[in-house]
Amino acid sequence: MNNPAALPGLLGDTAARNYAHKLKLFNAFAKPEISRAIASLELKPGMRVLDAGCGTGEVLRWLSPQIQPGGIAIGTDLASAHLAAARTLASRDTWLVQADLLAAPFADASFDLIWSSNVIHHLREPSAGVVFLANLLRPGGRVAMGQSSFLPDMYFAWDARLERATNEAVRSYYRDRYQVNEKELTAVRATVGLLRQTGFRNVTANTFMIERVTPLSLEDENYLVEAIFRDTWGPRLQPYLSGEDYGELSRLCDPLHTDFALRRPDFHFLQTFTLVIGEI
Ligand SMILES: C[S@@+](CC[C@H](N)C(=O)[O-])C[C@H]1O[C@@H](n2cnc3c(N)ncnc32)[C@H](O)[C@@H]1O
Repeated sequence: MNNPAALPGLLGDTAARNYAHKLKLFNAFAKPEISRAIASLELKPGMRVLDAGCGTGEVLRWLSPQIQPGGIAIGTDLASAHLAAARTLASRDTWLVQADLLAAPFADASFDLIWSSNVIHHLREPSAGVVFLANLLRPGGRVAMGQSSFLPDMYFAWDARLERATNEAVRSYYRDRYQVNEKELTAVRATVGLLRQTGFRNVTANTFMIERVTPLSLEDENYLVEAIFRDTWGPRLQPYLSGEDYGELSRLCDPLHTDFALRRPDFHFLQTFTLVIGEI
């Protein structure tokens, strides 16, 4: 692997870190909306596309058919386990390269489009990452930066107060675990500015709404129960919530409890996926 990052990323990424399961759950869940975001790019046969920080490779698999025949789709990621998962999905016309995004081994002006979703704000210096990616684009090439949850998610349509307390607890958890302050955590919203500051032209933003009500698909249930209720919340939030709120949250997240959120007739979930596109 080329120049592994000396320090873990802002949110703890290293070559050895593995959250492949969570990535797979999210991509299975958000496939309809991410597919619409990909379609909005109007890719053409023969294009060369890089997925920078491709994770477990689902998006690479969806990008590839859009550029056939003759296109090349390459995925690159820091984490060995994520790439191992991506390899199991890769088709014959996709390539995977383990590398730090800031040292990815490609010649300047190699790509027509670089897709990078939920990655750039994991770097300690997002602008250095964007500048590096800009150099990999041919003149007139585009970067497409995806970011989920630009807008606050709606989990509990029936209780904004508990939702606010839960979100605050998640922020406190991140602040303590990774020593990132709230300003750094909300920097995800600055993707438009980030592209403009780094020389991209014709910057546009388009937010795709991920909206679910019951009945849910298996993919929706798996993501919400495992990735959100168990892993993002769960016992790790206990120190950050009052006993009463933690008890209520636990009951809402427990599939065996009568209060389980996904059995409520008023369950209504909203999350956003924003695609910011810029041209070099
Ligand atoms: C939140 S995940 C998103 C993965 C994928 N783009 C997706 O949407 O499913 C962030 C990914 O960025 C990778 N990553 C973090 N820092 C990186 C770096 N410096 N160079 C390359 N990849 C990095 C992580 O290993 C992880 O796979």
